[in-house]
This record gives sequence, structure tokens and C-alpha cells, in this order.
Amino acid sequence: MISSLMLRISVLILITGMLAGIAMGMTQSFTLAPAHAHLNLIGGVLLFLFGLYYRLVPAAAATRLARVQCGLHIVGALLFPIGIVIVLTAGPSQEIYPIAGSLIVLAAMVLFAVVVWRTAKA
Ligand code: HEM
Repeated sequence: MISSLMLRISVLILITGMLAGIAMGMTQSFTLAPAHAHLNLIGGVLLFLFGLYYRLVPAAAATRLARVQCGLHIVGALLFPIGIVIVLTAGPSQEIYPIAGSLIVLAAMVLFAVVVWRTAKA
């Protein structure tokens, strides 16, 4: 079930993001804070909220669009913060990674908006 997948992956991402936050605090090195923030918010909080919506509205979860949205969001939610890490460590010449990640996340969000508009009526 798509909502279970989203809920399960989101909590794993949040644990990873929190461990990264603790590592930043322990090393007093905050350069990668934007990657930590976007991993937690897009990969953790947003994905968990999507999972709750699909649990609440089973008709939305049953669509092919929902599966595409889920896959796209997970890929983008990982590529975006990884891309931020790459740029912050290797320099702006690598900006294609966060650009691609952010556009994938945006595309997934547009698909989610379509899903919500089609199914949100109680
Ligand atoms: C164990 C849990 C967490 C720890 C230890 C932690 C630690 C940190 C640290 C050390 C920073 C950098 C602070 C600085 O630059 O002075 C930071 C920034 C941030 N964290 Fe966390 N964090 C945790 C969980 C979360 C969660 C769950 C979220 C969001 C859902 C979050 C969102 C953010 C945001 C938005 C920033 C600001 C990023 C920036 O300034 O670029 N954090 N966190």
C-alpha cells in the first residue's frame, strides 16, 4: 500500500536527518545545515503528510498517478539534499544535482496537487 511505503520511508529519512543534525552539532560544523533541513522537511515531513493523505483518502491512493507521485517525490527528496551536499563540498559547478532534485520535487508536488484536487471533496 502506497501510504505505508511513504510513512515507513519518511520515518527512516527523519532518523537519518536527525543523526546528521547531531553529527553537525558534535563537530560544530554547520556547512551542510541546508541539506539537513531539506532532507528532514521534504523527505521526512512532506512525505509523512502525503502518506497520511493517502491513508485518509483510499480512492486517491488507488490511482496510478499516486504511485508516480510517490516514486518521483522519493527520488527528488533524496537527490535534492544530496545535490546540496555535492555543491557545498565540490563547488557551484555541480549545481545540476540540486537543480534536478528541486525540479523533480516540484513535479511531484504538482502531481500531488492534481491528486488532491481530484479527490479532496469529502
Ligand atoms: C535530532 C534532531 C535534530 C538535530 C540534532 C538538528 C540539528 C541541527 C543543527 C546543528 C542545525 C544547524 C544550526 C546552525 O546552523 O546554527 C540545524 C538546522 C536546521 N534544522 Fe535541524 N536538527 C534536528 C532535527 C530537525 C528536523 C526534524 C527538522 C525539520 C523537520 C530540522 C530542520 C532544520 C532547519 C530548517 C534548519 C536550518 C537550516 C539552515 O539554516 O540552513 N531539524 N539542525
